[in-house]
Amino acid sequence: MSRTDEASTRDQLLTARGLRKSFGPNEVLRGIDLTLHRGEVVVLIGPSGSGKTTVLRALNGLETPDAGTIVVAGGPDIDFASTDATRPKQKKQKRLALRDRSAMVFQHHNLFPHLSVLENVIEGPWRVQGRPKAEVVAEARSLLARVGLDDKADARPHQLSGGQQQRVGIVRALALRPDLLLFDEPTSALDPELVGEVLLVIKELADEGWSMVVVTHELSFAREAADHVLFLDGGVVVEEGPPSQIFETPQHERTQRFLSRILRPLDGD
Ligand SMILES: Nc1ncnc2c1ncn2[C@@H]1O[C@H](COP(=O)(O)OP(=O)(O)OP(=O)(O)O)[C@@H](O)[C@H]1O
Ligand SMILES: [Mg+2]
Repeated sequence: MSRTDEASTRDQLLTARGLRKSFGPNEVLRGIDLTLHRGEVVVLIGPSGSGKTTVLRALNGLETPDAGTIVVAGGPDIDFASTDATRPKQKKQKRLALRDRSAMVFQHHNLFPHLSVLENVIEGPWRVQGRPKAEVVAEARSLLARVGLDDKADARPHQLSGGQQQRVGIVRALALRPDLLLFDEPTSALDPELVGEVLLVIKELADEGWSMVVVTHELSFAREAADHVLFLDGGVVVEEGPPSQIFETPQHERTQRFLSRILRPLDGD
């Protein structure tokens, strides 16, 4: 191994190899490879049903792949073998080993409606991770201030705009102190005028050095924030590369077709 190879392996935070997943007869992941280096932003794009959410759910331990390996630096190599099907307990342990390493921000924020903003944020670190409440509350307040929501700590989610709710969703993920963040179309449920404020927070986190995998259709954000872009179609990575290559000189005809469709969504042909 050359010194450069060693350095690049050392910097790898997340490595997924050969991820496969079927739902019944429907094979939705057909051998996905994904590498995320520390401080990097990897963006996943692709048509509906191409497997983007399933990839994120597998990385977050919400879904058990049928095959493949996932390694998060400092943790065990998790090998999802076909024999797992007969060993549900082992399968679950493998999945749970991934849960604490990343935190996911969903398309719909999924905040608890009966809890205040602050209570929503501390729920994971305090009740699930068992950290001291005073410490967790102080950190939650400073994270809320960071996204401009310090005055909303006692509000209920329904009293917030969609963009504010989604920013709380991001704070809730940060409060878990994950090694990496996973975003699944974090702005696609928002009114257009609220998209910018949420993308700005994500961009700031990226600039601060957070490592993240982002599924998004916001191409201008992807162009600006991504270090690496993967285009998925039919459960495989059809093409990947730096944003300049994928967006400006896509090599694959399927990538070109997808991009022209989302860049001109009203253009019939
Ligand atoms: N729990 C499940 N049970 C059965 N089929 C599923 C399940 N989850 C996902 N699928 C199927 O897997 C395929 C990939 O779904 P996935 O949600 O990963 O796609 P996606 O790329 O995120 O799409 P979108 O852009 O619409 O969010 C789809 O055909 C979907 O119907
Ligand atoms: Mg999806």
